[in-house]
Amino acid sequence: MSDAEMVQMEGASSMHGAAGMHGAREADDHHSDDMVKAHERVDQRAAEPQSAQQALDAAVAKNRVTSVGDFVGRLHPLATHFPIALLLAAALAELLLVARPALGLERTIRFLVAGGAVGAVIAALLGWFAAGWRLEDRSETLGLHRWNGTVIASVAVLATWLAFRSQGRTGLRVVLVVIAVALIAQGYLGGEMVLGPNHLGIR
Ligand code: HEM
Repeated sequence: MSDAEMVQMEGASSMHGAAGMHGAREADDHHSDDMVKAHERVDQRAAEPQSAQQALDAAVAKNRVTSVGDFVGRLHPLATHFPIALLLAAALAELLLVARPALGLERTIRFLVAGGAVGAVIAALLGWFAAGWRLEDRSETLGLHRWNGTVIASVAVLATWLAFRSQGRTGLRVVLVVIAVALIAQGYLGGEMVLGPNHLGIR
């Protein structure tokens, strides 16, 4: 199937489907009445026959970057993989260290936590560009995701400090458990925004 045919098919199904990543922002930027009207207009357009190439051209034009901030915000999904992977791996490695102290994983954990913290700060910063610089969101999911992500980045910096100091590991262990739980929730909320409500199909 060509790119054009894929976009044509997606166009037909997404009219009524998932909120999509711009959906999260739109839900915040407009009143629901405006959204209904906008969807009606989109539905009308969808009813007009469109070739696969026209659908592809329209999708490319619709996605065009509008400003530097817009482009920076679009890098957020890319950046999220690093803190999720590195900090969850740090928590797992710490668990291994509890079970097998002889493995000597302390240095590896320091590397994972520090890398994860850098990744979390970058991801959170890009998230603010993606979501807009405001303190309150009309969308509950985006509001939860915004503040959970901001707290994760801050606590990850604290975890780095804990990982590098020479005293006991209890503080680091507690913080890593908190971060792991918060990251799983964060990934879920991100998925809800990008793929639509109940994207895992478990509700
Ligand atoms: C450690 C911090 C964060 C992590 C791990 C994270 C993770 C994610 C994930 C996994 C997604 C779904 C991406 C996809 O599947 O394409 C997502 C989407 C999103 N996140 Fe975050 N996020 C973080 C912080 C933030 C913050 C602080 C904000 C807002 C201030 C934010 C705003 C958004 C928005 C608006 C989306 C929808 C996609 C987009 O427009 O880029 N995120 N996030």
